[in-house]
Amino acid sequence: MEKIYIETYGCQMNFADSEVIASILHGAGYGVSGSVEEADFILINTCAIRDNAEQRVRHRVRELRAMQTRRPGLRVGVLGCMAERLQSRLMAEEDNVSFVCGPDAYRRLPAMLADVRRGGKAADVELSTTETYADIEPVRLAGNGISAYISIMRGCQNYCSYCVVPYTRGRERSRDPQTIVDEARTLFGRGYREVTLLGQNVNSYCWQGADGVPTTFPELMDRVAAIDPRLRVRFATSHPKDLSDKLLEVMAAHDNICRCIHLPVQSGSDRMLKLMNRKYTVEWYLDRVASIRRHLPDCSITTDVIAGFCGETLEDHELTLELFRTVRYDYAFMFKYSQREGTYASRHMADDISEAEKTRRLNEIIALQGRIALENNREEVGRVYEVLVEGESHRSKERLFGRNSQNKVLVFDRGDAVAGTYRRVRVDDVTAATLLGTLV
Ligand code: 5AD
Ligand code: SF4
Repeated sequence: MEKIYIETYGCQMNFADSEVIASILHGAGYGVSGSVEEADFILINTCAIRDNAEQRVRHRVRELRAMQTRRPGLRVGVLGCMAERLQSRLMAEEDNVSFVCGPDAYRRLPAMLADVRRGGKAADVELSTTETYADIEPVRLAGNGISAYISIMRGCQNYCSYCVVPYTRGRERSRDPQTIVDEARTLFGRGYREVTLLGQNVNSYCWQGADGVPTTFPELMDRVAAIDPRLRVRFATSHPKDLSDKLLEVMAAHDNICRCIHLPVQSGSDRMLKLMNRKYTVEWYLDRVASIRRHLPDCSITTDVIAGFCGETLEDHELTLELFRTVRYDYAFMFKYSQREGTYASRHMADDISEAEKTRRLNEIIALQGRIALENNREEVGRVYEVLVEGESHRSKERLFGRNSQNKVLVFDRGDAVAGTYRRVRVDDVTAATLLGTLV
């Protein structure tokens, strides 16, 4: 039996896709290996969102060349967003790559691998308007047996001016809700206690049933949450323009829908938001934050932000810092703007903030957010949370870790706690990233 090894870079959606890829190739008779050394095919599932993500993959591909010299039968393929973006150009530039496969072409991987095995090269980067892989039961790779991703929709057509995703993942399409509920129920039966529903913009999830009755995201959440109160439900990502009160009402009605909303803001300046084609203003965004806090007072809010987008002035940057001070995020993913070929911004706007200045602004945001996260965490001391125990702490075998509903990591003395169960933990001490506590 020939073996494949999958290496995954980038977002949660890519990790979910890798599990679909494993399932497709397993079904075609390939073994799915946990070790590079014994693989006949190495599949690299890639991200194209920023240039540094692509450089990391290129570096890895070149590193694998040495292994291929030692083992001439070993074939390397590039999958996902970078494959879609560069297409067969990638095989010309990196000549040890034998196949490239875009995010909607995974069903054709068995045929591609067969071609490659005969000594050929293969490329399939066709995008689809309908593919959701709804009928494929993912092979859970290297998971903890406790939490799993479920992809509920694919693609994006928001066309934020800086973003390459609409070009690499194609049009938005939603997956049949029944297959989502079934997948979650099966996972729960196998002992899983947390599912994260994934899409580029989950709030625009919409399935047209055969009867013409649509299922929207709040309705889907309601159905998944109703499977069992012991199954935690998370979701990502929400576009602020589409975050509805209806969803917040459904969340409030189910204790097992986690109190954590990822609401990427990107900038605190209306002028920048307009140039970014985000379709909301700071006022709108703050109204959504206020609504979250009204419906779900204990909800954590996290974000994404970009420093140094085209034409960003010091005043624009200051407005971003101001917004961070106002919202006081629990966590933020913070990036420097990276120009992506083919996007609206790359065609019509100048990438005119120097690398040094982007770094300076980014570091300012990081430092501010670090202080806010620590201050937020200090207020947690003395609180008791229900924690889903995930496993041993990385630092010490004597301690376990898990997450609360707000998605904060708690580390605590092991006691008699067991992974995959819920325990109450009191917070005794904190860092900017972790809460330290004891079982109660
Ligand atoms: N440069 C920097 N960051 C980007 N993101 C998306 N495109 C770019 C880009 N060209 C960020 C956004 C998005 C997150 C997933 O990645 O903040 O929310
Ligand atoms: Fe990119 Fe905007 Fe779509 Fe998010 S919503 S994937 S940032 S285009």
